[in-house]
Amino acid sequence: MALMRILVIHGPNLQLLGTRPPHLYGTVDLATINRQLQQQARTQGAILTIVQSNHEGEIVSLIGKARGSYDGLLLNPAAYTHTSVAIRDAIEGTGLPAVEVHLSNIAAREAFRQQSLTAAVCRGQISGFGPLSYHLGLQALLALHAAVNTAPAPAQSPAARVRRPAGRSRK
Ligand code: DQA
Repeated sequence: MALMRILVIHGPNLQLLGTRPPHLYGTVDLATINRQLQQQARTQGAILTIVQSNHEGEIVSLIGKARGSYDGLLLNPAAYTHTSVAIRDAIEGTGLPAVEVHLSNIAAREAFRQQSLTAAVCRGQISGFGPLSYHLGLQALLALHAAVNTAPAPAQSPAARVRRPAGRSRK
């Protein structure tokens, strides 16, 4: 099976991981998360392109161009999770399978963080496991891809099986 091409997007302020409040986001920095994700990808059959952006429009454009170049999206939209209709519409528009991840458990945080505008257009959301959320998200995308690519061909109806091209007679 071909390697799965995945676009990983880290949203605003995630470049500060390691120095952001550690009780919420841990002490691991973004470079380490990326290195470990690349390692996982190498052993599990994926090619990752990893981008961090603080700009909503740039994230929208990246997602908008992803179809054709990627087979899936792994994203932590960070604060835009709770505000961005534009990112939500971009994810929906690509039609690519997407998994949303968060380091912190957003369901256990302030009320404004408990709502995700983007999760509903993703295949699922993984939240609260620190850097492991990214690894679980990558694994979920790979499993979705494998399920699609190893699905048995649809069974043919008896009529379809005996049908022949027009004009050809049976010997
Ligand atoms: C976050 C949660 C968001 O609410 C917050 O704005 C972030 C990080 C997380 O990974 O836990 O920047 O997405």
